[in-house]
Amino acid sequence: MALAAAAFGGQVLLLCALLLHLRPCSGNSNIQTAVNITWSSINFKTILEWEPKPSNYVYTVEIDGPRSDWMKTCVHTTQTECDVTYLLKNVRDTYTARILSDVPLRDNGDFDQVPYAISPDFIPYDQTLIGMPTIESFEQKKDFLKVVVEDPLTPYRFLNSSFKSIRDLFRGDLEYTLYYWKDKSTGRKEAKTRTNEFKVSIDKGKSYCFYVQATILSRTENRKGEKSFDRCTHGDVPSDDFELEAILVIGAAAVGVFILFVISCVVAYKCKKAKAAAKEKENVPLNA
Ligand SMILES: *[C@@H]1O[C@H](CO)[C@@H](O)[C@H](O)[C@H]1NC(C)=O
Ligand SMILES: *[C@@H]1O[C@H](CO)[C@@H](O)[C@H](O)[C@H]1NC(C)=O
Repeated sequence: MALAAAAFGGQVLLLCALLLHLRPCSGNSNIQTAVNITWSSINFKTILEWEPKPSNYVYTVEIDGPRSDWMKTCVHTTQTECDVTYLLKNVRDTYTARILSDVPLRDNGDFDQVPYAISPDFIPYDQTLIGMPTIESFEQKKDFLKVVVEDPLTPYRFLNSSFKSIRDLFRGDLEYTLYYWKDKSTGRKEAKTRTNEFKVSIDKGKSYCFYVQATILSRTENRKGEKSFDRCTHGDVPSDDFELEAILVIGAAAVGVFILFVISCVVAYKCKKAKAAAKEKENVPLNA
C-alpha cells in the first residue's frame, strides 16, 4: 500500500516535472518571428511596421546604423509598429532593424537566444517620401502669376527647438515644380525653382489653376513628392477693380485741386480789389 502510494507520488512528480519542462517549450512554439517588415516614412517621420499581432509574447525593436549598435526601442511592445524617427537622425546613414520576439519578463541577459527577424535596409535621405507642400500665397497681376511655396517640416529640431524643414536637410537637392493651366483648358505648362517662389507669364485677365510638387534631384526612386492641393486664380478682375478705384480717386483729387485753385483765385482777386480800394481811400485828402 505504502509502496503503491510512493509509486503514485513518483508518477505525479514525474508528470509535474514533464509539465514544467513542456510549458516553456509549448510557449516557445507560439512565438513567431516578425514578417512583412516595412519602413513607412514621410518627411523623415519613420514608423517601422510588421506582422503578426503577438499572442503571449512581445516584441522589442533594435536599430543598427554605422554610428550606433543595435539601439533598443519599443521594448516589450505588444504593438506591431514602432516610431523609430529619433534613432535615424543621421539621415544619410543606412539603417537596419531587428525585431525580437520575446516572452514577457525574460531576463535581458537572455536576448541572444531570442528569435528575431531582420528588416530591409533603410536610408532616410533616399527613401523617406516627400509630403504635400503648402501654397503659402499666390497672386495674379496683369500678365504674371506669383506663387510662394512653404517647405514641409520634419520632426527634427534645431538647437533652438524650431523644426527643421525638408529644405534644411535636402538643401540644393530640393526643387519644386509648378504645373499651371488656363482654367478649363487641358494644355498644362510647368516651371521649376530651387527657391520657394515662382513667377510665370500668363495671359492677362484669364483665370489659371495650378499645383506644386517637390522633386529630390539626387534620387533615382521616389524622386517626386506628393502634389499640393489645386488652387485657382480668379482672372485679373480684382486688380482691374483696383485700377478703376484708383482712377476715381485720382479724378476726385484733381477736381478737388481745381476747386481749391478757383477759390484761391477768387480770394486773391477780392483781396487785390479791397487793397486797391483802401489805397484810393488813403489818397483822399484828410480835410475833405
Ligand atoms: C504578409 O504579406 C502578405 C502579402 O501582403 C500577406 O498575404 C500575408 O498574410 C502577410 N503575413 C502576415 C503574417 O500577416
Ligand atoms: C533656429 O535656428 C535656425 C538655424 O540656425 C534658424 O533658421 C531659425 O530661424 C531659428 N528659429 C528661431 C525661432 O529662432
